[in-house]
Amino acid sequence: MKNDRLLRALLREPVDRTPIWLMRQAGRYLPEYRQTRARAGSFLDLCRNPALCVEVTLQPIARFGLDAAILFSDILTVPDAMGLGLYFAEGEGPKFERPLREEWEIRNLAVPDPEVELRYVLDAVREIKAALANEIPLIGFSGSPWTLACYMVEGGASSDYHTIKKMLYARPELLHRILVVNAEAVTQYLNAQIAAGADAVMLFDSWGGVLSERAFAEFSLAYLERICAGLTRTARGRRVPVIVFVKGGGLWLERIAACGADAVGLDWTIEIGRARQLVGDRVALQGNMDPAVLLATPEAVRREARAILAAYGEGTGHVFNLGHGISQHTPPEHVAVLVETVQQESAQYHPTASP
Ligand code: CP3
Repeated sequence: MKNDRLLRALLREPVDRTPIWLMRQAGRYLPEYRQTRARAGSFLDLCRNPALCVEVTLQPIARFGLDAAILFSDILTVPDAMGLGLYFAEGEGPKFERPLREEWEIRNLAVPDPEVELRYVLDAVREIKAALANEIPLIGFSGSPWTLACYMVEGGASSDYHTIKKMLYARPELLHRILVVNAEAVTQYLNAQIAAGADAVMLFDSWGGVLSERAFAEFSLAYLERICAGLTRTARGRRVPVIVFVKGGGLWLERIAACGADAVGLDWTIEIGRARQLVGDRVALQGNMDPAVLLATPEAVRREARAILAAYGEGTGHVFNLGHGISQHTPPEHVAVLVETVQQESAQYHPTASP
């Protein structure tokens, strides 16, 4: 592969500079994305059209020269494939027509066959991989069992998670039944993405941070461990790194770093230098600029990017990213400034790497 910095940094192998990609790098802040989405009809039509997925996946690569592409899709395609009926209500985010409420619905929940029900995603992976022509790696992804369950039980975004938390405390065995099915579905789905060409995979536990530490260990982390143990770790002659991102997981960093992943994604609330002291000899770290910095000024973007590079310090094991997905209100020029800053100024932190 021409540029394999991302894969090397995720495995804590030497690199010449710090690799950078951005969560939600293909999205509404890009005018070319909004154009393609309009041609597709809707976000879901876009996700289900592999040729247009290739187009939007490559848009931020062409514009900014990032070190990785991420599959264009959504974490909620998995519960959709389980029959819950995903739709997007204008201005309200994702929703399910048939959220899991009744015990019989939970008992009937089944693992979808990725090559059948999620064929359109795997076709997108194959077509993106071909279009990338081994220039940069392709990241595949899935939601975590807990984060998927949040949407499946709540029926959409939630501010308090009362429906699923009530189930967690009143009927833990029912929630575990959902999580067992989700963990198996995610394992098969990610393994299918790896077989189709994904060079690394990332698990998004976007709502792990709403749990107590004990509940997180039992209802989220245990399933992340199970998935890490079940993933294909070598493909096309290379190790396939696994990244686990728990938004709000800073307090549990040491436990998360022991889950079997190669790298841990950090939100912006923890200082990355301190995170490195805690777990940097065991896993690589990905992150962790506050996405809101990109709303400010080019000077602020440069200053914050430099501060994060310096806080991580010398040596490999850092993948520069945001602490969560990029905002739709981000000026694309600020993203260009961020990428240039990291690409031009990070070599000083890799003095011993051969070019
Ligand atoms: O990073 C990338 O560029 C890859 C694409 C990607 C999307 N969603 C595209 C998307 C990835 C990795 C995701 C993951 C995802 N989806 C997560 C986990 C990461 C996180 O943000 O915590 C979650 C929780 C979802 C569920 C979801 N999908 C939400 C909350 C939303 C936003 C709703 C809104 O209206 O703002 C989506 C929609 C979505 N997923 C968009 C994109 C580009 C915007 C859809 C549009 O074009 O209108």
